[in-house]
Amino acid sequence: MAKILIIDDTPEYIEMLSSILSEYEIYAAKEGKKGLALAEMVMPDLILLDINMPLMTGYEVCRRLKAMDKVHAIPVIFLTANEGSNYEEIGFNLGAVDFISKPFHAGLLKSRVKTHVSLYQLQCNLQSQVESQTEEIRKLNFEMTYLAASIAELKSKETGEHLRRVAEFCYLFCKFLGKDETECEKIKMAAVLHDIGKVGISDEILNKPSALDAQEWKIMKTHSLLGYEMLVDSEFELMQLAAVIALEHHERWDGEGYPYGKEGETISLIGRICAVADVFDSLLDKRAYKEPWEEKAVRDYFIMMRGSQFDPQITDILLENFDMFIYTWKALKRPRSKR
Ligand SMILES: [Fe+2]
Ligand SMILES: [Fe+2]
Repeated sequence: MAKILIIDDTPEYIEMLSSILSEYEIYAAKEGKKGLALAEMVMPDLILLDINMPLMTGYEVCRRLKAMDKVHAIPVIFLTANEGSNYEEIGFNLGAVDFISKPFHAGLLKSRVKTHVSLYQLQCNLQSQVESQTEEIRKLNFEMTYLAASIAELKSKETGEHLRRVAEFCYLFCKFLGKDETECEKIKMAAVLHDIGKVGISDEILNKPSALDAQEWKIMKTHSLLGYEMLVDSEFELMQLAAVIALEHHERWDGEGYPYGKEGETISLIGRICAVADVFDSLLDKRAYKEPWEEKAVRDYFIMMRGSQFDPQITDILLENFDMFIYTWKALKRPRSKR
């Protein structure tokens, strides 16, 4: 049953409205403040609001309702008894959807209330459908991105979920840089794909248990450009972002990186972030060609490479919050079932 909240200082009007609208669940308040509290508690489908009340006018109640996050979308109909010439203009400007004059005409009142309740319920249903579909798309997006990353990961045998951890570190850096949650999440998802180009590198090179020779190293380095080419033609913003990360995560602040030897801030911020996150994880992790580094050695490496290999600002974030990054690394290193 739809719910209606009546806010009116005259008990007779409340009674009259309640009996005309007996098919609805009625809630009533005799003054504005109580009405506001009741609106939040009950979440009605419609509010009938008297304009002329002693403590807080209906206009003020409406203004406050429209400023409240939870209830601002609930339709408000003003109840009027000859309120002067411009009351409609004021009311509509405050966000009211309609006016009903006192004394009430039962039939008219019922049909107006019915129309606005139906419209509001329809709007709520549509809203929740859009929200659930958006959530569905977001989850699908997430799954597909991680699936693609897993394929690259399987091939290169970089166990320990390197790609996922790098993505988490990128998320942390973005948080420290003050980016909003949506942006941080987007960058995290895109960073999962930073090494996707490795699917185009032969297994012999990817999994060679010793250092690569010059020719092999040259081939290995093509993974950033390969990844970029795989992603850049996508019409999705997330994939465009992933393309930039794939391309630039091996560029260096001093211009000595690859593929283009870009320098300083000509490398995108997210490329510079991923460069730090990628090396941080690779050093701590065991690889086919190396043992894991001690935490102190990793820290010293970043101190040494601050401003040469890595963006100094991002390196500072890592160094100032080193324990937290190590803690996160350890938490993510644990098998998924034990997290
Ligand atoms: Fe890489
Ligand atoms: Fe990587």
